[in-house]
Amino acid sequence: MSTQREPIGVIGTGYVGLVTAAGFAELGNEVWCIDIDAAKIEGLKRGEIPIYEPGLEELVTKHRGRLHFSTDIADALEHARLLFVAVGTPPTYSGDADLSAVHAVVDAMPASDGHALVMKSTVPVGTGASIKRIFGEQGKHHFRYVSCPEFLKEGSAVRDFLQPDRVVVGDDGDWAGEAVVDLYAPLGASLVRTDIASAEMIKLAANAFLATKISFINEIANVCEVTGANVIEVAKGIGLDDRIGPKFLQAGVGFGGSCFPKDVTALKQLAGNSGYHFQLLNAVIEVNELQKRRVMAKLEKHLGTLVGKTVALLGLAFKPNTDDMREATSLVLSARLQAAGARVRAYDPVAETEARKLMPGIEFADDALTCVEGADAVVLVTEWDEFTHLDYAQVARAMSGDVLIDGRNALDPEAVAAAGLTYEGIGR
Ligand SMILES: NC(=O)c1ccc[n+]([C@@H]2O[C@H](COP(=O)([O-])OP(=O)(O)OC[C@H]3O[C@@H](n4cnc5c(N)ncnc54)[C@H](O)[C@@H]3O)[C@@H](O)[C@H]2O)c1
Repeated sequence: MSTQREPIGVIGTGYVGLVTAAGFAELGNEVWCIDIDAAKIEGLKRGEIPIYEPGLEELVTKHRGRLHFSTDIADALEHARLLFVAVGTPPTYSGDADLSAVHAVVDAMPASDGHALVMKSTVPVGTGASIKRIFGEQGKHHFRYVSCPEFLKEGSAVRDFLQPDRVVVGDDGDWAGEAVVDLYAPLGASLVRTDIASAEMIKLAANAFLATKISFINEIANVCEVTGANVIEVAKGIGLDDRIGPKFLQAGVGFGGSCFPKDVTALKQLAGNSGYHFQLLNAVIEVNELQKRRVMAKLEKHLGTLVGKTVALLGLAFKPNTDDMREATSLVLSARLQAAGARVRAYDPVAETEARKLMPGIEFADDALTCVEGADAVVLVTEWDEFTHLDYAQVARAMSGDVLIDGRNALDPEAVAAAGLTYEGIGR
């Protein structure tokens, strides 16, 4: 198979780029991976994986012969006609997407015939059109452009690449679009072949919809708390409706991560910049911000003032099975707790290195039981399996208080209460 598959380039070897590269290597492609981070590239050449993503190390190791790492974009241009762009597009202070890394790649392209940029980075609608215009201004009229947004989820990214719900290809109906469709063909996924602007909007709209679902169920949970209903039962009851579906109906302490917060804000800003006030997304964002802070009131309800109290945070990453701390709820929570005078101790199975850079003034523990030692309250922030399987009787014995806030509704309230703890979940 490998002899018939065409070589490709991947620019940016982060969560999306490295998974895409390893995924295509699994399909038989030679992949030239480019990053401006020389240390990352040197590490990758030695077989060191810079991120925690289940299954990724195995795949990169398996295909070391097909994966080539370099800091020089010319290496990709020499071997591949399709250059997948997977550089970061973080939010600016205004909430718009920062496209400087994307533009650095665009500017580095030569005026050659027979190459195409395939945009995997999440960009505002209109970016493809503006890049094509820039190519024209720079005399790179032959450079093709394809939008191929990425939908992988950190924590299951390898599986998501190999078994995608759908592949979206937005293009101008030229060779480049065809080539991208061919590349993905072995996966047998549903294909949405469309224009570039629609492909760009599909990505933003998908994330905005998922974020809306989360904020919706969080508000339902908040109303459950004041009316006596149980959001777990409610989510089950509504999720069985085919039109609603059971996913993304888990109430909790709010969404974080590198995508939802920035993409929802970027879509809101995009609409605003175009003269449309996207009211619904304003609410989705505001509900999420408030949700992250509701834990404070729950703690104060049980402990009174938090001054001098020790609060243990179990889990810091924005979700389980990743070390990604971008926009994690734990960041807001630890800052609020410290501002309220509490001592914060935290433990995460893999995110500690990242967390240490972002969370000054908190104490890190090496394991869950050390983390809860002497704590007045414990907050389960990230639902790592390890925490759902903890012996909560042991946790109760180690703590000096007895309050457990289950920020992800991941535990069995009766079992936790039987272990001697005062359980409080979200909306149940
Ligand atoms: N992380 C996700 O779950 C996810 C899912 C879908 C889409 N996306 C989108 O994919 C894009 C990448 O996200 P990520 O999480 O992989 O980011 P990341 O920060 O993990 O990786 C980006 C990489 O690009 C490199 N880079 C920056 N400028 C470069 C340049 N000029 N040339 C070469 N390399 C450069 C960085 O050094 C870094 O290694 C973003 O637009 C994001 O919104 C991310």
